[in-house]
Amino acid sequence: MSLLELEDLKVHFPIKRGVIFDRTVGHVYAVDGVSLSVESGQTYGLVGESGCGKTTLGRAVLRLNEITSGAVKFDGTDLAQLPREQMRQARRRLQMVFQDPMGSLDPRQNVESILVEGLHAHGIGSNRTERRQRIQRTLDAVGLPSAALARYPHEFSGGQRQRIGIARALVLEPDLIICDEPVSALDVSIQAQVLNLLEEIQDELGLTYLVIAHDLAVVRHISDVIGVMYLGSLVEEAGSDMLYAEPKHPYTKALMSAVPVPDPQVEDARERILLSGDLPSPAAPPPGCRFHTRCPWKQDTLCATERPQLRVLSEGHKVACHWAEKIEAGEITPRSEAVISA
Ligand SMILES: Nc1ncnc2c1ncn2[C@@H]1O[C@H](COP(=O)(O)OP(=O)(O)OP(=O)(O)O)[C@@H](O)[C@H]1O
Ligand code: SF4
Ligand SMILES: [Mg+2]
Repeated sequence: MSLLELEDLKVHFPIKRGVIFDRTVGHVYAVDGVSLSVESGQTYGLVGESGCGKTTLGRAVLRLNEITSGAVKFDGTDLAQLPREQMRQARRRLQMVFQDPMGSLDPRQNVESILVEGLHAHGIGSNRTERRQRIQRTLDAVGLPSAALARYPHEFSGGQRQRIGIARALVLEPDLIICDEPVSALDVSIQAQVLNLLEEIQDELGLTYLVIAHDLAVVRHISDVIGVMYLGSLVEEAGSDMLYAEPKHPYTKALMSAVPVPDPQVEDARERILLSGDLPSPAAPPPGCRFHTRCPWKQDTLCATERPQLRVLSEGHKVACHWAEKIEAGEITPRSEAVISA
């Protein structure tokens, strides 16, 4: 069963100009028509380059960004339509863990007061002892000692601070946690520990995750399903193993070709696909397929004029490319100058 379903979600930020009157002179099309479902108890990994709209999407689910159009169905209720007070109540069930644990934790509050804040806001626990017990259980679950309660964020290492961030989300016993780049501020050696912790907690509590990252390696082993975003849209979605074994969209193929392979023989034969040009601005996305300005497989028809829909190519594998079948069959190959030996 889907716990979270986005239907054609759009978040457009107005670009304002003018000294006296705020005139809207354009929009940043940060999220521009994303549909996806996250199954209960599973992890959906959302990846894509910086600026493609991942954080905006995550924040829109919690209505921290205003939704321009579309639906955010959480457990059957469209959050986009909820009155403010009901949305506030719904937030207990949807929590977010942020990239920068230092920036997202108030340095003047000790851990106990950081964790108790949400309990107070949602009226959880009838007295101090009850709240403290709940906080202690949560600290235990994230591997922090109860001595941590009286300490302040700066007294912890980066990995420990991220554990506090996770505890702050967890203490409210949510159903869904959106983890926005949960490990990208951490040393590589600590990243695996925090990812393992997220997995352990999920197994124990049956939580559902939406994990956002720009790094394919981060989402790979934690995700059941992965969605690849480019300029505000999903270009490909598949089960994690399937996506890695057989990327079908040109953009995913290019991203994947940059990842080194551990097997030396395979690595020697690996070809990299280079993308030409810069990522276009989301304030002026290209017409047609958003990727056509950089796509080594681009064709003279359709690509520059018609926006491809995300469609099912094979069971459990969706791709937004007009030419996906022909590319898969090898009938269309990338321009030779875009392919180099790794
Ligand atoms: N409040 C805002 N007002 C105007 N534009 C915004 C706002 N928030 C984000 N944007 C723009 O929307 C686009 C998407 O930003 P977003 O932060 O969602 O990207 P991201 O995929 O999370 O990138 P990163 O990997 O760098 O975190 C960017 O062009 C960004 O500048
Ligand atoms: S639709 Fe065209 S430009 Fe877009 S990914 Fe497919 S081949 Fe490339
Ligand atoms: Mg972001």
